[in-house]
Amino acid sequence: MRYRRSKGPILFCAVHAVAWIAALTATHPIAAQVPAAYYKQNCYSCHTIGGGRLTGPDLKGVEDRQGREWLVSWIMDPEGVLKSGDPYAARLQREARGAVMTRGPGMTRDLAVALLDLVAVESGLAKSQFAGIQVSDRALLPEDIEEGRALFMGVKPLKNGGPACIGCHQVNSLGSLGGGRLGLNLTRAYARLEGRKGLSVWLAAPPSLTMSPVFTTHPIAEEEILPLIAYLKNETEQDHLDSTASVINFLISGLVGAAAMLVIFDRFWHRCFRAVRLPLIEDTYRHENRRTDA
Ligand code: HEC
Ligand code: HEC
Repeated sequence: MRYRRSKGPILFCAVHAVAWIAALTATHPIAAQVPAAYYKQNCYSCHTIGGGRLTGPDLKGVEDRQGREWLVSWIMDPEGVLKSGDPYAARLQREARGAVMTRGPGMTRDLAVALLDLVAVESGLAKSQFAGIQVSDRALLPEDIEEGRALFMGVKPLKNGGPACIGCHQVNSLGSLGGGRLGLNLTRAYARLEGRKGLSVWLAAPPSLTMSPVFTTHPIAEEEILPLIAYLKNETEQDHLDSTASVINFLISGLVGAAAMLVIFDRFWHRCFRAVRLPLIEDTYRHENRRTDA
């Protein structure tokens, strides 16, 4: 009797696998390549559209400054354009205090064109979705730092249900208390991300591959951003104070040490010097005397 295997289960599995792959790639930020999502993930942390300069220039109306062809080749290979000695790129780099843009992941010509189309449309709006969030520039208070610390530690839960930062991050002031190791040590994040503006854009739409899937659906609320900034700023400043203090300590202990060495050395040297010099002098006298005798 011939046994015919039914194709049913195989077909079912194949369809299932394809559906899974489709679902996975759809949630994958690079494969999705919806320009706005791509921009948010890969460009926004350095470029607002109408919100002022971050690490890179504000891209509002960028095509009034430079032609489309140039911009496409720039987005596709910024390092190459810089290396070619292009004067416009060199000027941009000077204005960015030496920062160098790198090529976006999975960049293609079509994507570069789509991104420039997006920038053009967003530039025409009264307020682009990429204008950055306008965090207040009022002075940061001790209460802000305290609230930020509570949010960071998870003592005060994040409004939209995002996980506490401490689960993945450490800061130096926690010392042996630790914190998660998945993310970076955030002690110097305030300095690294260029202060209030850079950090606020960063937190409003974290471009991190680990953070963005979680914080896109559970974003950090706007009113939570300023306290978190206050906390991270304080961490950077405390760390700076600590390192200044240790430099001063080092110098003082160095000076004290050097003075002690001088005293010891002086005593020791004095004795050596006499021990060597006296016989020499006596010797010289003996010679002189012999010469005058002759
Ligand atoms: C790490 C920060 C950073 C990221 C991320 C980044 N850029 Fe840039 N971009 C810069 C800097 C800095 C410059 C200025 C030139 C230089 O110093 O490299 C620049 C310049 C540009 C310019 C020319 C601006 C002008 O005024 O003529 C365009 C257009 C641009 N970037 C588009 C993009 C796009 C699109 C993305 C996302 C795929 C992106 N950038 C991602 C930092 C960044
Ligand atoms: C699920 C883990 C996770 C959680 C929770 C998390 N982060 Fe992150 N974060 C990361 C990772 C990982 C990175 C490193 C970037 C990357 O490779 O994705 C990062 C990077 C950062 C950076 C950029 C640091 C730099 O100097 O480039 C900042 C700022 C930051 N996180 C702030 C926060 C804050 C504030 C919270 C709490 C509201 C938080 N993160 C919660 C995983 C996390």
